[in-house]
Amino acid sequence: MPSRSTSFRPRSEPPAPVSEVGQGFGAGVPAISVRGLSKVYESGLKALHEVDLEIRPGEIFALLGPNGAGKTTLISIICGLVNATSGEVRAGGHEIVSEYRAARSLIGLVPQELATEAFETVRHTVRFSRGLFGLPGNPEHIERVLRDLSLWDKRDQQIKNLSGGMKRRVMIAKALAHEPRILFLDEPTAGVDVELRRDMWALVHRLRQQGVTIILTTHYIEEAEEMADRVGVINRGELILVEEKHELMQKLGAKELALHLEQPLQSLPDSLDERGLSLEDGGWTLIYRYNIRELESGIAGLLQDLQQAGIHYKDLETRQSSLEEIFVNLVRDDS
Ligand SMILES: Nc1ncnc2c1ncn2[C@@H]1O[C@H](COP(=O)(O)OP(=O)(O)O)[C@@H](O)[C@H]1O
Ligand SMILES: [Mg+2]
Repeated sequence: MPSRSTSFRPRSEPPAPVSEVGQGFGAGVPAISVRGLSKVYESGLKALHEVDLEIRPGEIFALLGPNGAGKTTLISIICGLVNATSGEVRAGGHEIVSEYRAARSLIGLVPQELATEAFETVRHTVRFSRGLFGLPGNPEHIERVLRDLSLWDKRDQQIKNLSGGMKRRVMIAKALAHEPRILFLDEPTAGVDVELRRDMWALVHRLRQQGVTIILTTHYIEEAEEMADRVGVINRGELILVEEKHELMQKLGAKELALHLEQPLQSLPDSLDERGLSLEDGGWTLIYRYNIRELESGIAGLLQDLQQAGIHYKDLETRQSSLEEIFVNLVRDDS
């Protein structure tokens, strides 16, 4: 049996309808619900500030933000590894402190840092992870997971003898051992090789088709773009926006061209009606909105039309959308 996935979904194909595949928490129950969540570490550092977030059953959600934004803290609280300072978190409707067992059994976590037992074999450590949840053994499931992650050939090797990439695959296998309905991947592709990255995406898509809800963190816009149905942007412990991926990408590409005119215009000539222009500054500035994600910005045609209409400008500038500014700031903080 080939261990490599064949079900990788190319980007252009529409996603499977979430409503069909993502059930399992009861009607209308979010996969994850976070309300007013704050975290102040003992050092006094405020890592999270009043975060509200709902993750829908069956979606792939990317939490995007620079290093130190609070991504790992948020995930660690949801997974029960770090205590919140205030706020409430539910997984599949179960409050994560008072209903710890029920909440935790739904969740699988692939942590950012590698932490594996050195002397255990691959198969044993994955089987053990399942046992931790009090589940009966399921050799078929364990085999499928190991094959999916190209670990089957290495199943009897000690973990200490594996490469870093293979160790990371073991971490993923461990997280999947108890068949979680919700999977967290904390910076899954930071520092991994191309092959593992590709396998991981294939796996994520396959899990999603099985109705698994997936939350991944990343500081790469491209990764969020490639993977997610929805994207949340977190910066300095605050969730600053949550948006459908397609809408976010559209907004990210929005740009304005501002032309500072030699003479103010009272109104726009009819010949320019269809270009969606507007006037600002009492007619001194002409604004043209376009999207850098579209093949043709239309700028060349616009400038020709202006010339034909006898409209002259002395200067021009482009402006980013405010979202673009947010991202520029995110990236700047990252350095
Ligand atoms: N155990 C801890 N004690 C004190 N501060 C911490 C601890 N863990 C993380 N932090 C701080 O909290 C902030 C958020 O960290 P983290 O959640 O790891 O961010 P991210 O995963 O987005 O890079 C950072 O300023 C980090 O230094
Ligand atoms: Mg982190």
